[in-house]
Formats: sequence, C-alpha cells, structure tokens
Amino acid sequence: RRPFQVAIDGPAASGKSTTAKMVAQRLGFDYIDTGAFYRCVTLAAMSKNLDPSDPSNVQKISDLAFQSRIGLKTIFADPVLNADKTLSTPASLPTTRVFLDSKDVSLEIRTGSISKHVSAVAAIGPVREAVLQKVREIGAREDTGDNHGSDSSSAGLVMDGRDIGTVVLPKADLKVFLVADSRVRAMRRLEELIRNGADPSKENLDLDVVQQDLERRDELDRTRKVSPLRKAADAMELDTSNLTIEGQVDEIVKEVEKRR
Ligand code: C5P
Repeated sequence: RRPFQVAIDGPAASGKSTTAKMVAQRLGFDYIDTGAFYRCVTLAAMSKNLDPSDPSNVQKISDLAFQSRIGLKTIFADPVLNADKTLSTPASLPTTRVFLDSKDVSLEIRTGSISKHVSAVAAIGPVREAVLQKVREIGAREDTGDNHGSDSSSAGLVMDGRDIGTVVLPKADLKVFLVADSRVRAMRRLEELIRNGADPSKENLDLDVVQQDLERRDELDRTRKVSPLRKAADAMELDTSNLTIEGQVDEIVKEVEKRR
C-alpha cells in the first residue's frame, strides 16, 4: 500500500507550511514544501540576473529549473516520553532546510525580493513541469530522509502548495484547502517577518504593504494559465481566520484518522 497522502493548498500566508509541518510531526509523516522549489528556481534565476518578468528569459529560466538540484530536509523533534510512559508530540516546530545545488539556501529563498518574483517564475509552464518531476520523485521515494529518527519509511506524506490537490497528488487521501481573511494573513506574515529579524522601521514594511503584496501574489497565482491556485472539488475547506494553529492541526489530524 502506498503511503497516506495529505495535500494542503491555499493562498499565501494561510498557515499552510506551519500546519503541514505540525500535522506531519503529529502523525510521523514526511513533509514536502513545494513552494520552496519555486523559490529555489527564482533564486537561481536572479543570481544569474535573469529578470523573471522579462519574457525573453523564459527559456533560460526553464533550463535552470530542469538543471537545478533541489533538496529538502525536515528536522522533526523527537516525541516526548511522559512519566506514565506514553509519548506526546513535542511543542517545538519542525524546521525545513532547503538546498540548491548542495548549498543551504533556507534563509535566502524567504527574502522579500524572492517573494516578489516567485509567482512570475511559477507561472512558466516548463518550470512547473520541472518542479512537478522533482516533487513527484521525492514523494514516490520510500524514504525521503525525514523519517522521524527511525530507519523505516514513514506511513504518510504531507505536501503543501497551490496545486497539490488538483495536479501534483490528484488521488490524495485527504485534500485540505486553507483560507483566511487577507488582513489576518498579513498580520501573521508581518509577525513572522519580525520574528525572523526584519526591522519594519528600516524596510518598507507595514501591514498595508504586506497585505498588498500577498493579494498581488494570490491574484497572479489564481489567474495564471497553468495549474492556477484553486480548491479541488473534493477538498475540505478550512477557514483559519479564527482558528489557532493547534486548532487547525487538530482538525486535519482528526480527518486523517477517520480515513486511515
Ligand atoms: O508557499 P510559498 O509562499 O513558499 O510559495 C511561493 C510561490 O510559489 C507561490 O506564490 C506560488 O507562486 C508558487 N507555488 C506554486 N505552486 C505550488 C507551490 C508554490 O505555484 N505548488
């Protein structure tokens, strides 16, 4: 039997990656962040001074996408052994390291300039083909290396992105579409940026700017011709505007357990 597949899609800053990582940690599943692949291709293009919004660069960026070697490694914390010998999930969030041609680019791919250009790169058809090939390959591998400290392959896989339920894993056992009010998403994203060391007084960073940025990216992702962001017909929609991360993780874990 193939591993249980959970597909999580949704707009920018809807809490996909945090939720997906925590669901994977709770269930002992592997985790694959597909957005990281588009971010790596964007970084590769920009390091070669290829402006993604210039149509004459499409061919070169597509070639880069096929040539780049992209790897992910998620580090899960070990379960906590309670006094009564039961195990519980650690409170700390798993971290994902991202490698582009063997270099750790985990931080570089999250900068504002990559976020600004990534949707243009993700709209290029051949780039999507290259990423699809890579993530399907990793997903099909029995052991992605993220095996929660054991040598056996994991029982399942959580993948997040924009087209997981519709294109990448159309037969996923559970599809979740996360939505949240764009103001709430902007607040969460701004908090995250500040937590990661951004200084709003120096950078052009306020709630309105962050919100506009998210909305512009969502618009590009929703309206592109290839694999646009949309909810799969058989996906469960979860509005997280008024949910805590723990609350949304609980909902998804409950749903997996029902279907397993
Ligand atoms: O999830 P994250 O914000 O890192 O994704 C960055 C961008 O990558 C998205 O805005 C979208 O343009 C693109 N993406 C995509 N399909 C996916 C995942 C991400 O087009 N499955």
